[in-house]
Amino acid sequence: MSNLASPLINKKFLIFGCGFSGNFFAKKIRKLGSTALTSSRSKKNDPNSFVFDRDNNIIPNQKFFDGVTHVLSCVPPDKNGHDPILKTLKSKLQSLSLEWVGYLSTTGVYGNTYGQWVSEKNKPNPLQKRSQKRLNCEEEWINSNLPIQIFRLPGIYGPGRSTFEAIKNNKIRVISKNNQVFSRIHVADITNAIIYLLENKNSLQFHRIINIADDEPCSQIEVIQYCYDLLGLNMPKPIIFEEAKKDLSPIAQSFWMENRRVSNNLLCKELGYKLMYRSYKFGLKDCLLNY
Ligand SMILES: NC(=O)c1ccc[n+]([C@@H]2O[C@H](COP(=O)([O-])OP(=O)(O)OC[C@H]3O[C@@H](n4cnc5c(N)ncnc54)[C@H](OP(=O)(O)O)[C@@H]3O)[C@@H](O)[C@H]2O)c1
Repeated sequence: MSNLASPLINKKFLIFGCGFSGNFFAKKIRKLGSTALTSSRSKKNDPNSFVFDRDNNIIPNQKFFDGVTHVLSCVPPDKNGHDPILKTLKSKLQSLSLEWVGYLSTTGVYGNTYGQWVSEKNKPNPLQKRSQKRLNCEEEWINSNLPIQIFRLPGIYGPGRSTFEAIKNNKIRVISKNNQVFSRIHVADITNAIIYLLENKNSLQFHRIINIADDEPCSQIEVIQYCYDLLGLNMPKPIIFEEAKKDLSPIAQSFWMENRRVSNNLLCKELGYKLMYRSYKFGLKDCLLNY
């Protein structure tokens, strides 16, 4: 991705929801020569930031929309399962001549596959209420007639948000559950995959829905053990899930109710994206550098 060659020079991105992934994306896209304005629900002392808070009816004014070419939404569904951006800004976005709109969704929409691989070709089968809401938001974006591309993401980690922080903050729970796997993705690969698709838009077949996941779904305990090994510390003795579950919050429990391997074949084989961190081992080494 050379700066000079990038077709993303001088584009204007509005990024809704500048949390972990949105912020990473904004920084990278600016390095490529684009403008990136980012939303948050509270006012920030940053000229590139604007306030968007649907619950309190705070909508960005026109100057933020002038010249916008690309929109990326990283905002989760509202409590009723609707998309907060579309609820307030759909006609505004439709009035702009947008080249592209991206939406960060979750692989939770696939539900429980009992450890089997799942791809974009599989019909979503959300198990959790929050995943049903997410699927509803995906449908709202698809029905918006905007040039939408949806990215389904598994557990996101990266520098500043990884098992290392959980260990440091004493938030680690070492739980073992037979045959249970999770898929994950390093935040840099979310950004880089999206940029790869945008930079090669004219030569790649367009896909409305794309999974961004690494190559190696695995158990949580493997990841925790690896972090302890890298830190040169002993991992606490694992607690079996049936024992541990009574102390878990309902949301934490719900993550253990789903067991799936998310395929990245479409992104990495068909479309040719090369992962920066193809497994947690590579990704966690990067996190450790920034730890
Ligand atoms: N974390 C994961 O492992 C994971 C996995 C799969 C998918 N996802 C989804 O992928 C997206 C990006 O994930 P992330 O972890 O990078 O997100 P994040 O750090 O939690 O950031 C989410 C952003 O959305 C904004 N937001 C939340 N509710 C909003 C509302 N009602 N109105 C306006 N803004 C709102 C937040 O604003 P403030 O800055 O004002 O708080 C924040 O900037 C999210 O939709 C997330 O649910 C996450």
